[in-house]
Amino acid sequence: MRRPLVAANWKMHGGPDAAAKFVEVMVARFGDDPSREVVVCPPFTALPAAAMIASGSAIAVGGQNCHWEDKGAFTGEVAASMLVELGLRWVIVGHSERRQYFGETDATAAGRARAAQRAGLSVIYCLGETLEKREAGETLAVLERQSAVLAGLDAGGLAVAYEPVWAIGTGRTATAAQAEEAHAFLRGRIGGLLGTDAAAALRILYGGSVKADNAAELLGQEDVDGALVGGASLDAETFSAIIRCAPGFTARRE
Ligand code: PGA
Repeated sequence: MRRPLVAANWKMHGGPDAAAKFVEVMVARFGDDPSREVVVCPPFTALPAAAMIASGSAIAVGGQNCHWEDKGAFTGEVAASMLVELGLRWVIVGHSERRQYFGETDATAAGRARAAQRAGLSVIYCLGETLEKREAGETLAVLERQSAVLAGLDAGGLAVAYEPVWAIGTGRTATAAQAEEAHAFLRGRIGGLLGTDAAAALRILYGGSVKADNAAELLGQEDVDGALVGGASLDAETFSAIIRCAPGFTARRE
């Protein structure tokens, strides 16, 4: 049984105060519930405040990026070990916005993921096709190409996020059937790369316009083990509602 993982990707929104308040709510609601994993990924400047509040609870805090080298002359970048020093457990790598706006490639994303795992962080590795590729019928070919780099990672500290680019921030969600098709394909593919036992245990998250009103159906799919939530994660009530859609949720403190 895979433990559902629901992650908030705040992107470039929110400072220390907003993140601390948000994590405080998450800790109060879900902080002693080990049946699902909740990860909050605010911008770098908010990480210390968020990590301090989450400390000692089941709520994890994660970064949105880290560099592939352990240290050096890389102005504007942050090393995985620096995130670990703050008490972080997770980092998002290879997000499509990094690929689209900052020149991220499969190779650089893989390097960042390996560096994160070397430092002891678990990785949410993002991949997904553009609208053009989907319409050309190349979705699975894209996923096959993008996922090849996962062979170099440790399955124990890994979750994969399937995020169709056309669904991110657009309000256009993949149907549950589209998500399940991609997730089942990825699980089979990862089985070939990392072994079937590792693939069976690996969490594959769906991301792309997940909202409170579509989360239950998406999270109800057999191979959808959680969600990476952008816009709808900025509000604690909405994000809480999405977490409650994760299978196995039992309201204990509410
Ligand atoms: P969205 O973003 O939920 O705003 O579509 C998801 C993501 O980019 O991780």
